[in-house]
Amino acid sequence: MPNTISAHPGTAIVTGASSGIGKIYAERLAARGYDIVLVARREERLRAIAADLRSRFAIQADALVADLSEPSGVVTVRDRIAADDVSLLINNAGFSALKALTETPDEVITRMVALNVTALTLLSKAALVAFKARGSGTLVNIGSGAGFAPYPGIPVYGATKAYVYLFTQSLQSEVADTNLRVQLVLPGAVVSEGWEVAGGGALEALPESIVMTTEDCVEAALNGLDRGECVTAPSLQDEAMLRAHETDTAALLQAMFDARPAQRYKLGG
Ligand SMILES: NC(=O)c1ccc[n+]([C@@H]2O[C@H](COP(=O)([O-])OP(=O)(O)OC[C@H]3O[C@@H](n4cnc5c(N)ncnc54)[C@H](OP(=O)(O)O)[C@@H]3O)[C@@H](O)[C@H]2O)c1
Repeated sequence: MPNTISAHPGTAIVTGASSGIGKIYAERLAARGYDIVLVARREERLRAIAADLRSRFAIQADALVADLSEPSGVVTVRDRIAADDVSLLINNAGFSALKALTETPDEVITRMVALNVTALTLLSKAALVAFKARGSGTLVNIGSGAGFAPYPGIPVYGATKAYVYLFTQSLQSEVADTNLRVQLVLPGAVVSEGWEVAGGGALEALPESIVMTTEDCVEAALNGLDRGECVTAPSLQDEAMLRAHETDTAALLQAMFDARPAQRYKLGG
């Protein structure tokens, strides 16, 4: 007789679940049967989303209010990750500011690095420590297409997402030969409030043909996870470009190490 009772997938923690990509992740994971812990700063929104998820799906959904640009907020979420029921972490919270470096207040730079880099790193560690102890679990880090090359107006944001790319790719070797999974998701331009946070009007200025819906982004990302991808780029049509980039940068890494100064620096002979 076929087994019709599928195992409970556990609890998914979604950071930045009060809007945009994180909110849709929470909804799609609830539909897959995960219990959900929604993390962000805006408590009322989180509670409303949690209530909505509980009413639509046969799952638990809880709000966990935390400012992840503060060490205390990271500790709050880190402690929740350590609980036995957590099987999936979506490290999604992040923000951008569309400004030249010289026009960006120090406080904004500090918060951006704290959230996009420090919190993501510490929560990734907490997840892998907990999942290793348990023998399974999945970590998903949200990077960005903006992390591949300098783009005007987002010097700090682009660099934080370059960090997420390298950092998350580096974790693959730590989970090799285990039941742990690490997925890096690289959205392009996606409809969200994040564009308003970055500096109003930027989304409207983009051609519709390059802006993805939030739903399509998350569905593609989850499809990539189901397909076993380590890197998922929802809007990249030609996957071979990603492979070529990985091959090129791996070769460049090797070529960077040589005891001999390059010929062009051998001044005077
Ligand atoms: N939209 C795009 O085009 C795009 C493209 C590539 C990558 N991404 C990435 O996708 C992720 C989600 O962004 P989004 O576009 O969906 O933007 P969004 O709608 O503004 O969502 C950002 C989420 O992060 C939360 N957040 C912000 N600061 C926080 C803090 N200090 N502590 C805890 N939570 C915080 C926000 O909630 P509270 O304000 O309630 O705290 C919100 O839930 C980000 O990492 C972003 O870089 C977005």
